[in-house]
Amino acid sequence: MIPTTSKHNLSRLTRLVAAALIAASATTALAAGSIASGERWLDREGKFINAHGGGILYHEGVYYWYGEAKGDFTYRSPGVGWDCYRTDAGGVSCYTSTDLCHWTYRGIVLEPDTMHTFSDIHPTMVIERPKVIYNRSTGKFVMWMHIDNHNYEKAVAGVAVSDSPTGKFRFIESVRPNGQMSRDMTLFKDDDEQAYLVYSSEGNATLHIAQLSDDYQHVTARYERLFIGQSREAPALFKRQGKYYLITSGCTGWDPNEADLAVADHVMGPYTSLGNPCRGPHADKTFFAQSTHVLPVAGTADCFIAMFDRWNKRNLIDSRYVWLPIRFDAGAPTISWADVWQPPQAGASGHVAAVAPH
Ligand code: DGJ
Repeated sequence: MIPTTSKHNLSRLTRLVAAALIAASATTALAAGSIASGERWLDREGKFINAHGGGILYHEGVYYWYGEAKGDFTYRSPGVGWDCYRTDAGGVSCYTSTDLCHWTYRGIVLEPDTMHTFSDIHPTMVIERPKVIYNRSTGKFVMWMHIDNHNYEKAVAGVAVSDSPTGKFRFIESVRPNGQMSRDMTLFKDDDEQAYLVYSSEGNATLHIAQLSDDYQHVTARYERLFIGQSREAPALFKRQGKYYLITSGCTGWDPNEADLAVADHVMGPYTSLGNPCRGPHADKTFFAQSTHVLPVAGTADCFIAMFDRWNKRNLIDSRYVWLPIRFDAGAPTISWADVWQPPQAGASGHVAAVAPH
């Protein structure tokens, strides 16, 4: 029989060994220069990457990954009837990389405002899906994000600016674009430097796309309604060979559902659905994940990475990242699962080859 203290030490040892094994496998997944979706991903300091619902800006040779810094403690918003799991808003984190595999933590670049109870970025609020674009004419980095209150009824888009990609960003305001609700959102900057905010509106029933002002800090009156009454969210917009592609999810809270990929000749639409881009096992649930961004890999002719979040609603900080290459064979673009694959480095051309599972 093992004495209680020894039992305690043994179980502590078991936990330490298990944690070390998990950490080792996570380190291997990224340090080996490959992407292993759904694993725990560590930064260069060996800490879990905390950048959910994120997007990536490529600027002067560096990838900047911005995301939601989730708090340690997940709880259900008191008094809210639906599955309203959340953490305190921890602001927006930033990690940098030159190869998409090794990430250096740059800190919280948009800090929550702990001083003012009524601030839109107070920890009691919701700060989700931050995206950053660079404005060439002003030299500013502009961040837009979904801001909400504890029960998601406020439904506004927040904007912040910085002179540096690693902040600190200064929160300016949050708005209802053209008086309309705004929840899940993304940003898209076109080749002509015009930028757009894409957001779930009208109680999440209809997606909107609105052109931003030349400084990217305001929404203009020019907007279109997309997928009217179809309840789409989690938008991720990209452009390839003159066509615009928009990945969205259905609206089922933190739970996964089937993705849709739509195509248009003009950025503001009309968009035509091509159906679910995902292929293979669990394609109907987007590999248990939800879209957040599509990254064109810098210096490559035709490589795009679809970024998804695999939410863990009962422990949101432990939500995982699912990054998969988009294939452009004949017909509609497709996304297949790959256990481990290597992102192309600048200079590569053509499609991304998924490597065999290890
Ligand atoms: C689904 C959205 O896509 C997430 O960003 C988050 O807002 C959850 N809903 C909240 O339930």
